[in-house]
Amino acid sequence: MEKVSVLVEALPYIREFHGQTMVIKIGGHAMVSEDVLEKTVKDILLLYFVGIKPVVVHGGGPEISEKMKKFGIQPKFVDGLRITDKETIEIVEMVLDGKVNSKIVSYFIKNGGKAVGMSGKDGLLVVARKKKVKKKVGESEVEVDLGFVGETEYVNPGILEIIIDNGYIPVISPVAIDLNGNVYNMNADIVAGDIAGALKAKKLIMLTDVDGIYRDKDDRSSLISKMSKDELERMLREGRLDGGMIPKAEAIINALNNGVEKAHIINGSKEHSILIELFTKEGIGTMVYR
Ligand SMILES: Nc1ncnc2c1ncn2[C@@H]1O[C@H](COP(=O)(O)OP(=O)(O)O)[C@@H](O)[C@H]1O
Ligand SMILES: [Mg+2]
Repeated sequence: MEKVSVLVEALPYIREFHGQTMVIKIGGHAMVSEDVLEKTVKDILLLYFVGIKPVVVHGGGPEISEKMKKFGIQPKFVDGLRITDKETIEIVEMVLDGKVNSKIVSYFIKNGGKAVGMSGKDGLLVVARKKKVKKKVGESEVEVDLGFVGETEYVNPGILEIIIDNGYIPVISPVAIDLNGNVYNMNADIVAGDIAGALKAKKLIMLTDVDGIYRDKDDRSSLISKMSKDELERMLREGRLDGGMIPKAEAIINALNNGVEKAHIINGSKEHSILIELFTKEGIGTMVYR
């Protein structure tokens, strides 16, 4: 009976989500173990088989750093900002497209799913430009050259629509290109938000290594289970988010401004967190609404 009641509780959500597109970002820190990653893939397949159209975007920062170390390449920083030179961007592509993306696709195949691995380059999905970063020197601002770090110029969702409409699950790495053929490393949160906006997705779901957004970032008991976009904007302005949570918040705000209905930040290392967040009243992470 307990098992049946779970299904019955899920029914209204399944009905609501059937046929809807959801962009799911798997963070580098939510992929640290193969086991956790495969379980996440299985949950995403469950979404797919109840009629949801998942679009997966993944990160991979920790693996890039690890591979660089293996190849004996010292990460370069200028004022705390990582520089992506020619040598580094080659490793970024190798790790993100050649390894992480292909591994996620393999798990989909292994568990009976049809996934298509691609980067932001494919089908000109994400057109990038070099990211301009400024720093303050005394009274004036000077530009810092980060190398091949990009930001989104625009998104062409056409290729995704072809893939999704034919029953496949796109798995996208955060590598993009400009019209001169320069390849850029992108922030995966931002790419996920941009794609969600371009697809007018029902939801943007971020799987990370914390339970959601904490009102006080140092207090794990201050998890916010539901908040408005305005509140999130306020937290960002007041500096109550730092590190990897900043691009997530920016991506969410951007996606909601572009027609995405809701965004969720959940702990990807907790088993079945996606299913609990989507199919139960209580949820498990942080939900942000327009
Ligand atoms: N207010 C906050 N609530 C939750 N996490 C926060 C907050 N501010 C900063 N963070 C940090 O953001 C991190 C998640 O981003 P990140 O490390 O980039 O993970 P991912 O690999 O999923 O992108 C958390 O581990 C946490 O340290
Ligand atoms: Mg991150």
